[in-house]
Amino acid sequence: MTVYHTILKRRTIRKYSNKEVSQEKIEQLLRAAMAAPSANNKKPWLFYVVKNKEIQEQLKKVYSFFDYNSPLLIVVAGNLESQRSKTTDFWQQDCSAAVQNILLLATELGLGSCWCGIYPRKEREQAIRKILNLTDEIVPLALIHLGYPAEEKSARTQYEEAKVIEIS
Ligand SMILES: Cc1cc2nc3c(=O)[nH]c(=O)nc-3n(C[C@H](O)[C@H](O)[C@H](O)COP(=O)(O)O)c2cc1C
Repeated sequence: MTVYHTILKRRTIRKYSNKEVSQEKIEQLLRAAMAAPSANNKKPWLFYVVKNKEIQEQLKKVYSFFDYNSPLLIVVAGNLESQRSKTTDFWQQDCSAAVQNILLLATELGLGSCWCGIYPRKEREQAIRKILNLTDEIVPLALIHLGYPAEEKSARTQYEEAKVIEIS
């Protein structure tokens, strides 16, 4: 698969089989995540790999409008403590780049994924902070559902010429 094909093939998956994701694949996903670009190379990210089913249920309840049944959750969080020594405050971009790397590699590994936003929704942030017992410096940005897909979605772009402004 070319990178472009993987990008088009990545779709949000909300229905999963109960097949678990191997530790080897989890490690690959985390290596991809931590290959992301990062402002001043501060790497302000933390990855909470949630395998515990009880904790997973608690996290899923924060998003009551969908019935996700993924076997694996990864919460990507910004460690703001690591930003304080520098003027850079790009933790959201850094962590988002890491999230996208996870989603793209997941696609290539035959896994489905769903990026669920946490920050800046205060109520989600607080609920997840409580469940994972996070200190004030750790800000959860995204909850990623991962697992083998039980629904099919076609590859696509959503290209719109009107969104392109050419400055020549
Ligand atoms: C920052 C962000 C937050 C999102 N939050 C949610 C969410 O809370 N629940 C959900 O089911 N999908 C969520 N999504 C997935 C989007 O709904 C999805 O990407 C969009 O509908 C486009 O579909 P596609 O991913 O298949 O291209 C989120 C995506 C992003 C980038």
